[in-house]
Amino acid sequence: MFSSTQIEAFKKLQTPFYFYDLDLLRETLSQISEHGLSKGFHIHFAIKANFNFPILKLIKAAGLGIDCVSGKEIERAIEAGFEPNQLAFAGVGKTDDEILTGLRYNIFSFNCESLQELEVLNELASKEGKTANVSIRLNPNVEANTHKYITTGLNENKFGITADKLPALFELLPSFKALNLTGIHFHIGSQIRDLQPFADLCEKVNSLQDLFEQKGYQLEHVNLGGGYGIDYDAPDDEPIPNFKAFFELFERKLELREGQKVHFELGRSIVGQCGSLISKVLFIKEGISTNFAVIDAGMTELIRPALYQASHKVDVLTSNKPEKTYDVVGPICESSDTFQRGITLPKINRGDLVAIRSAGAYGEVMSSGFNLRERVKAYYTED
Ligand SMILES: Cc1ncc(COP(=O)(O)O)c(C=O)c1O
Repeated sequence: MFSSTQIEAFKKLQTPFYFYDLDLLRETLSQISEHGLSKGFHIHFAIKANFNFPILKLIKAAGLGIDCVSGKEIERAIEAGFEPNQLAFAGVGKTDDEILTGLRYNIFSFNCESLQELEVLNELASKEGKTANVSIRLNPNVEANTHKYITTGLNENKFGITADKLPALFELLPSFKALNLTGIHFHIGSQIRDLQPFADLCEKVNSLQDLFEQKGYQLEHVNLGGGYGIDYDAPDDEPIPNFKAFFELFERKLELREGQKVHFELGRSIVGQCGSLISKVLFIKEGISTNFAVIDAGMTELIRPALYQASHKVDVLTSNKPEKTYDVVGPICESSDTFQRGITLPKINRGDLVAIRSAGAYGEVMSSGFNLRERVKAYYTED
């Protein structure tokens, strides 16, 4: 995966750091273009997955829009050159200031998640003399078969408007004079590898579309959210997710109305595989039942293993000695600060470099200052 020239360059840099393979990102975007944009689908990159400018620049050049979940993300997208009419804004807890930011820019859509949010948006928009474009986030109660912390489309989750609230929604909608209902929105979860949950989602979307039509609403678009997963175990075997299968499923299953547009909000599947966290081995510590390879990156740089029990492949970049078994752990004062347990790696020594793979999505953006650690740098293929 890494060339010898890259590894030589890594040796000269202060670790830990993020490295992004922009060539892989370009190839990923070209697959999205071939299989998604070419079908007329509109794709918004979920900027929460990674908000670094060099990445946003390529995503913008490929013709994607942005999905935001905070006012600052709206501002970041604008700063990166995206047009306001390419921005969708979701989130269960938008503050008044964040709503005003969206209104100021006249964004493509507010993806509203509750009846109260619709009321507040209507009030703020009418005070500002504006009409807000709204896509209503519906909770389809579809099982995503993924980690429970990234399951978002079940009744028990805080996201979207559940079916029991629909009668109240239809009663209230006509009173919202400052809202323009343009679509319905869904997002059932993240790291979904099997397509079945998306097929189930399409069925729900079709019947909800019928309901909205019966109530007299012609929707300009449906927004299916994101959630497509990546192969964390074997990133070199599947560096780019099978976008052909993903988009074909929606093309086959969705019952669209004349002229209706389809939007997606993909994050992980676009940038996950292009990023790695590069770290140096600080110590090898013999434990009672295992050897600990203590590296200089921790849960402060990549929290996914600690938070979601996520598994990221660890590659040793500077050793090809006979193999040994290790727990690869970080320096943070938490036992959850563990990247891998009991994995077989080439024998490593103090000073060796390792790459924690598939860290391009929800990696650097979730880093923290715990233990007063500083934010690490990011480098790109071009560097
Ligand atoms: C509303 C919404 N859309 C899209 C996404 C992107 O999901 P993914 O990165 O799994 O594609 C998320 C992620 O949490 C989200 O909350």
